Amino acid sequence: MTKYEQADRLKQIPPYLFVRLEKLSAEKKEQGWDMIDFGIGDPDLPVPDCIVDELCKQAHINENQKYSSSAGERDLRKAVADWYKRRYGLDIDPDTQVCITIGSKEAIFNIAQAFVNGGETIIAPSPGYPVYSGAATVFNEAKCVKVPLKAENDWLLDVNDCPKGARMLYLNYPNNPTGATCDIAYLKKVYDWCQQNDTILCYDNAYSEMVYDGYQAPSALEVGPDCIEFGSFSKTFNMTGFRLGYAVGHPDLIAGLKKCKGQMDSGAPIFTQKAGIKALSLYGPNGETPEAIAKNMAVYSERRQTLVNGLRELGFDVKMPKGTFYVWFNCGMPSDEFTQKMIDIGVIVTPGTGFGENCEGYIRMTVTEPVERIRKALERMKQNKYIE
Ligand SMILES: Cc1ncc(COP(=O)(O)O)c(C=O)c1O
Repeated sequence: MTKYEQADRLKQIPPYLFVRLEKLSAEKKEQGWDMIDFGIGDPDLPVPDCIVDELCKQAHINENQKYSSSAGERDLRKAVADWYKRRYGLDIDPDTQVCITIGSKEAIFNIAQAFVNGGETIIAPSPGYPVYSGAATVFNEAKCVKVPLKAENDWLLDVNDCPKGARMLYLNYPNNPTGATCDIAYLKKVYDWCQQNDTILCYDNAYSEMVYDGYQAPSALEVGPDCIEFGSFSKTFNMTGFRLGYAVGHPDLIAGLKKCKGQMDSGAPIFTQKAGIKALSLYGPNGETPEAIAKNMAVYSERRQTLVNGLRELGFDVKMPKGTFYVWFNCGMPSDEFTQKMIDIGVIVTPGTGFGENCEGYIRMTVTEPVERIRKALERMKQNKYIE
């Protein structure tokens, strides 16, 4: 082994998908192209002003400039518990059932650190958020079983395809990358299967508020208390850069997560957490969606419709998603080939294969461009008649 050779565990992790796309896009930009970007899932819309104002105000206070606790500030934990009451009617104990996280990504990783031993099995849906099968599995020397999600099953994980005896199962609806959504009856099936098989259910609900057409995303905790759910301020409030999320669930799971985090971080900045309290306070007494979020979602909704309808006119078979800001479709050729063709005409998309080997032919497009630019991208696709 040479001095700077990476550890075996790191070598097993594929390069992060978006690094490659960013490089290709930068090259085109240098050539003078106006790149229309449907790549990474980072909202382009701003954080509501009142949340930013709160952050600024709180950052001036000396007490808020110190270390937080890795479990998070109690007032934010309480605000999260209150939000669960208003949004889902659930009683959550802020002291034992909530942990504040530095975005949900770290919690998705750390929960495996806390509960999975080497050689044990983690079930990750495929396609899926890369961290489940990547760092969460590899850094624990665990074994990942990727269970394919299928178009004919509306991209819902079928528990009959899952191996028994697994330690942990990651599940995510509204889903990245497919935009698929589920109902509570489906969640109950998965929950019951996990109960029967002694498998920890890790429910990634990062997109719970990014929904359309009257659809309401359920919480796994509505089914029962024996699971852990991850939530995020990133997509709901466009706060990706604030790095703020939460985990809510069974006290033993939360205790393990807190212990693990206690060794790794000192919590999200306190002033960011105070901004999080402000954000959650915008929800109504019965969980009504705040006006600022409704406005955001109206923008994404119009973009989603423009893109889906435009792609349909070009001959693609595309479902109108009820959640997330992703549009997912089969492009009729290898994903990489399509991605390259799109880059050639100044449009960035994400190949489905980046989310799962079984997604050859699929493409994800994120509606983080305004409607006019979506139309421009569709026009470029039409002009370059490479699509049959
Ligand atoms: C399914 C899913 N879970 C979790 C995350 C992480 O979000 P954050 O760490 O910003 O809360 C993302 C981000 O794109 C995601 O798509």
